Amino acid sequence: MDKIRIRGGQRLEGQIPISGAKNAALPLLAACLLTDETLVLRNLPHLADIATMTHLLAQHGAELSMAGEHPGGGHMGHVLKLCAAHIASTEAPYDIVRKMRASVLVLGPLLARCGQARVSLPGGCAIGTRPVDMHIRGLETLGAEIELDDGYIVANAPDGLQGGVVVFPTVSVGATENMLMAATLAKGEVVLENAAREPEVADLANCLNQMGARIEGIGSDTLRIQGVARLSGTDYSVLPDRIEAATYAIAAAITGGDVELLGAQSETMEAVIAALEQAKVTVERTDCGIRVRADGATALEGIDVTTAPYPGFPTDLQAQMMTLMTVANGAAMITETIFENRFQHVPELMRMGADITVKGATAMVRGDHDGLHGAPVMATDLRASVSLVLAGLAARGETTINRVYHLDRGYERLEEKLSGCGADIARLVE
Ligand code: UD1
Repeated sequence: MDKIRIRGGQRLEGQIPISGAKNAALPLLAACLLTDETLVLRNLPHLADIATMTHLLAQHGAELSMAGEHPGGGHMGHVLKLCAAHIASTEAPYDIVRKMRASVLVLGPLLARCGQARVSLPGGCAIGTRPVDMHIRGLETLGAEIELDDGYIVANAPDGLQGGVVVFPTVSVGATENMLMAATLAKGEVVLENAAREPEVADLANCLNQMGARIEGIGSDTLRIQGVARLSGTDYSVLPDRIEAATYAIAAAITGGDVELLGAQSETMEAVIAALEQAKVTVERTDCGIRVRADGATALEGIDVTTAPYPGFPTDLQAQMMTLMTVANGAAMITETIFENRFQHVPELMRMGADITVKGATAMVRGDHDGLHGAPVMATDLRASVSLVLAGLAARGETTINRVYHLDRGYERLEEKLSGCGADIARLVE
């Protein structure tokens, strides 16, 4: 299995191009199932999770073709044409769904278009139990009959989905996206209350509207959808990845560097930028994105951070922020409110010399700016893995990160982007 080796202590300086957002691309890909026309998606990142979703879509009968690269952009801006003129199967098998929880996003589109779907339950995952009860309840509110059979969600709506009001008990990105896609083809009006406001949800809604859907309230917590009889194809560009951008912002900060993040959209990153500024990192909006500078770890301040649904501080950046706090001055309290088991990076960071105490959903980090040292480490999820890369960049000596496949799920060309700014990082292929 591949490993990543980092020799820490290099200051990052230069520019990093930000890829299309994985979490926007996944539901946008699933949206191809809603129409018999061609959906062209641009700025797709090259990632293992995207490959898993396209594999699933092909299995449902979608025809896919790559349509070249972004002019002059090298690896950026991958274009994919998807056409689900005929749905060959409405079943999403366990073997694919178990690899990636977001596979459940085909449930809403298949049910809306075909009146039936059989989708494997995603099961548990490293960062918590993560049920799909809100996806199921929401579809039932629109008239679907749903049973659980042998680990599969079996959904039927032979006369199509109806209008209705769905009030989500808690904010869920995936449930909002699944319901949004299902609602576009319902008969009547669907109202989604307490909907997720994440930019990725808005990106999906904007693309659906371009396909002929009638969605109002985009960006707010109440989405109103007037169902239409059919959707058409369109050509849509995926928004830049705010989580990737913020991860590299933290890489710049933790190495006392100066990096411009090309294409980063600061308006989708307000909570993170505010937190970085509070920690004494300089963040500037530029014509091409954002520029992030820090005067070295000695200048960083410990701050308290609590994760929350958008526009709050994202859970997907909690591990990276905690790593930054391990080298800042003073104490920092990091509280995780979205997932119950998302501190798996803590013991690994402690092996690198971090001083962290966990009590329930809160981690107390006592920063020490010459604290971290290299070590062989391993993590069990995507964001935890990248937090160890950040720790490795700041640490004295050599860090080896095992289970690189987690990183390949969510960070496109990570080693290349970091080494382009001076990091001493390499992939060891075994
Ligand atoms: C998405 C993101 C993930 C991010 C998360 C929270 C994608 C592909 N993934 O995941 O990177 O960390 O949002 O911002 O976009 N829940 C239920 N019942 C449900 C659905 C969710 O109880 O039916 C709970 C979950 O267990 C979790 C919370 O709701 O505690 C939020 O999860 P959700 O927003 O649904 O996360 P995902 O959409 O899976």
